[in-house]
Amino acid sequence: MHLIVFKTISLPPSSALLKPQFTFGVATASFQIEGARSARLTSIWDTFCDQPGAITDNSNGDTACNHVELWQQDIAMIADLAVDAYRLSISWPRVLHQDGSINQQGIGFYRDLLTALKARNIKTYVTLYHWDLPQHLEDNGGWLNRDTAYAFAHYTDLVTKQLTGLVDSYATLNEPFCSAYLGYEVGVHAPGIKSQQAGRQAAHHLLLAHGLAMQVLRANCPNIEAGIVLNFSPAYPLTENDTQAALLADQYHNQWYIKAVLEGQYPALLNSLSSEVQPHIAADDMAIISQKIDFIGVNYYTRIHYQNTDDNWFAEAQINNIAVTDMGWEVYPQGLTELLISLNELYQLPKVYVTENGAAMADTLRDGQVLDTERVSYYHTHLNAVHDAVEQGVDIQGYFAWSLMDNFEWAYGYEKRFGLVYVDYENQQRILKESAIQYRALLTQRKK
Ligand code: NOJ
Repeated sequence: MHLIVFKTISLPPSSALLKPQFTFGVATASFQIEGARSARLTSIWDTFCDQPGAITDNSNGDTACNHVELWQQDIAMIADLAVDAYRLSISWPRVLHQDGSINQQGIGFYRDLLTALKARNIKTYVTLYHWDLPQHLEDNGGWLNRDTAYAFAHYTDLVTKQLTGLVDSYATLNEPFCSAYLGYEVGVHAPGIKSQQAGRQAAHHLLLAHGLAMQVLRANCPNIEAGIVLNFSPAYPLTENDTQAALLADQYHNQWYIKAVLEGQYPALLNSLSSEVQPHIAADDMAIISQKIDFIGVNYYTRIHYQNTDDNWFAEAQINNIAVTDMGWEVYPQGLTELLISLNELYQLPKVYVTENGAAMADTLRDGQVLDTERVSYYHTHLNAVHDAVEQGVDIQGYFAWSLMDNFEWAYGYEKRFGLVYVDYENQQRILKESAIQYRALLTQRKK
């Protein structure tokens, strides 16, 4: 199926997204770009990459985009894109030693990076956990062990004290759904555990870690905004008979996290799970988890269709004749508008950032150029979807493209390219794709 192709990224001239208060950025994550493996502790992703068959192209994060060496040129490239902000994550195994003390070289890297961003007037959006748990904590149970939540609070305490004055916005966790469900329930992400009980327990401990870290952030940097980044894949019924499946999937995958964070409760579905798979929840946990937050980060890529199963559960359904990205994910911009509006109806939302949105495409480098028209179209239609949600009253204050550059796409290794910037892994050359040029054109036309 063919969609209308847009060759530029544009918004209605009067759009709130073009006003100076709206923040445009690009995003990355530590394990996906940094490399410099030998200068940090082993993380669960290093271990996972070593498992035969875990990563489609058998790659790992040892070198990635070699960002730890090339960070200065990468920052110049970010500045060249005319963005207001850069969203990055801190690698826990790079900044702490195994005994829990600060690794000065590791934290120094982030201090230099953030200082250089500040010098260029680029706002810094820092995520404290984007999936790279130190392996020694996994050896003690990882997110199945309640102590890991307290270890995360300790790490947050040390790191925030080291980065005073350098961070504009903190997110505790990125996509706890992925850490819990993909990592501990279905095992396609590190640490590769396959157990429903483990998935539910890991989710609870991750959310507890978020709450405990929020308390630390409030104490250490009360004037800096803090929140959490959640992913949403809106659930749609395959046929009109599958509404129950879509409802269950939505509760289990999407509402599970946001409801706990904003309302201190899990969806009612929790009580219909058999007692062995229900997480252990200690007395004050839900109050800790539902600390007031300043923003919610929404990551959106696609919607998913579901069908009922014989055991009254839900199963993902494939539909044909739809436009998909290189991940096989449907291109469905209206889903982003519908999602933002429905969250705004369901919850008392704090301000919202779209902290990730973007597309993997099978890019080709020809004559030094990457004409990624489909990605340009994707950004055009999705930014207009955000515009529509703002028009309908949702308080969205920023948008971050995923990703600044091609990088290690988890279980797919380097085969999937999400970047605005093409990375030639042979020589670590960065080449602005057409989407980067168009994103910059949109951003420079604003009057700041
Ligand atoms: C969400 C994750 O936060 C990011 O790490 C990943 O690369 C993108 N989605 C694309 O799958």
